[in-house]
Amino acid sequence: MMSNIPTIGIPPLAGLATYEEAAKAGYGVDQNVELMRRYNYIESQLYRTSAAFLNPTPEWEIKGALSLHLYLDSEHSQSLRQRVAELRKPPLYLDQCPDPKLETLCEEALRAENTIELMVGLFRVIRPSLVTAYRQHLADINPVFDHPTFRVIRTILQEEEQMLDWGLQALAAILKTDEDAATADSWEAHLRPYLADAGGVNGRESIPTDATLPASRVTGEFVADVDPKRDWRSGEIYNFHYRANDVYLDDEADYDERVLALMYKRFHEMDVPEMMASIVLQTPGKPWEYYRDMGRQLWDEARHSMMGEVWFAKHGWDWSRYPNHVGWAMHLNLDRKPLERHIILYFIEQNLMDGKTGKRLEWQIAQSAKDELATYFQDYDWADEVLHAQIGRRWLKPAVGDVKVIIERAKEIAAMDKPTIDARAQLTPQTDWWPDFVRDALGKESTSHAGDENRLIPKFTYASSG
Ligand SMILES: [Fe+2]
Ligand SMILES: [Fe+2]
Ligand SMILES: [Fe+2]
Repeated sequence: MMSNIPTIGIPPLAGLATYEEAAKAGYGVDQNVELMRRYNYIESQLYRTSAAFLNPTPEWEIKGALSLHLYLDSEHSQSLRQRVAELRKPPLYLDQCPDPKLETLCEEALRAENTIELMVGLFRVIRPSLVTAYRQHLADINPVFDHPTFRVIRTILQEEEQMLDWGLQALAAILKTDEDAATADSWEAHLRPYLADAGGVNGRESIPTDATLPASRVTGEFVADVDPKRDWRSGEIYNFHYRANDVYLDDEADYDERVLALMYKRFHEMDVPEMMASIVLQTPGKPWEYYRDMGRQLWDEARHSMMGEVWFAKHGWDWSRYPNHVGWAMHLNLDRKPLERHIILYFIEQNLMDGKTGKRLEWQIAQSAKDELATYFQDYDWADEVLHAQIGRRWLKPAVGDVKVIIERAKEIAAMDKPTIDARAQLTPQTDWWPDFVRDALGKESTSHAGDENRLIPKFTYASSG
């Protein structure tokens, strides 16, 4: 009996388990790998779904959360891949779908036609089943002898639970009418039989459903909508006036106005996740590290936007009263090829590394304004940008050439026509809102004449995001 073993009172087995708990045979290597392949497939499809809906989903907070979830799922997939590779399986094996029924489910969920359906697929159907699978896995494996798997899955599970929790709160908020609730229920009833047919994410979950598979919405290959939408709080998204870029650099202007411009620039950065989502969606076949790096950067950019959002909230300023245009992402997504978009992104971020005019200057402006929070934000924004320039180099060098070649190519791309900007600018009055914003936010007249030449006809530049 285990209780007869002499002990001096210290928990054995490094505290991971009792002898009883550790004296069980958990999943064998093959079974373990087979399950992790399924999780990995779902994680990578969740990444794809978040990317696919970053542009068409209008709600601001959902864009921010999709950016986080995409990044977390990229890390989840990365850790699962690494663990499987340690278990006598080659990593390439993980790029194949382990079960056509899981593929059918994910393809069906990708056909969501609105935010409610998207959120139902993610948070009422797929993620709950993924969480169930991870909990079951932790309960079944041996926490000592399969500790590397235990650790990976326990870490992932915590993050999945947090995502699911947010998703259910967000869903409750968007289901405002009986009709909304009916839309949600009917899409759940549509997807659930597909989940049941696959046996859930782990293939062994029993999911009650009396329905046979409903007629599929899939009619061909999935084509993501990469034309950015926003909710009403972003105002007139095709008014391309944008003087924040000129004002923060204006030595003649007051520091409070320069910091206001700087924080508006941060807030405006939601266009970077919108643009990067289109790159990863339309660049298939890369090693997973590519999608992980891009996912990390995409989430950083969403956080940069949150810096502005939090700074506005601190000052009680209502950002919904001024336009937050989508021109940069819209134009690049619709007028340029994925590799060209990435080159432009790198070009902008490389310029931000310039010691005199780039991120260091932005940080110094916030410091000169004696704005502690803005200085803190710019400090981290600057650190993130150093990483982004590295990520750009890592993936563009093999695809395009050395830095000089990439920069030359970027200049050519920047000089090309921008038909979507020209067309959408016709849809709405182009008005200079900066003086009203300054009056509203700072209670005084604007002290900057920078960008005056753009007051009548906005000059669309690439220096807006990064
Ligand atoms: Fe995940
Ligand atoms: Fe960046
Ligand atoms: Fe950024």
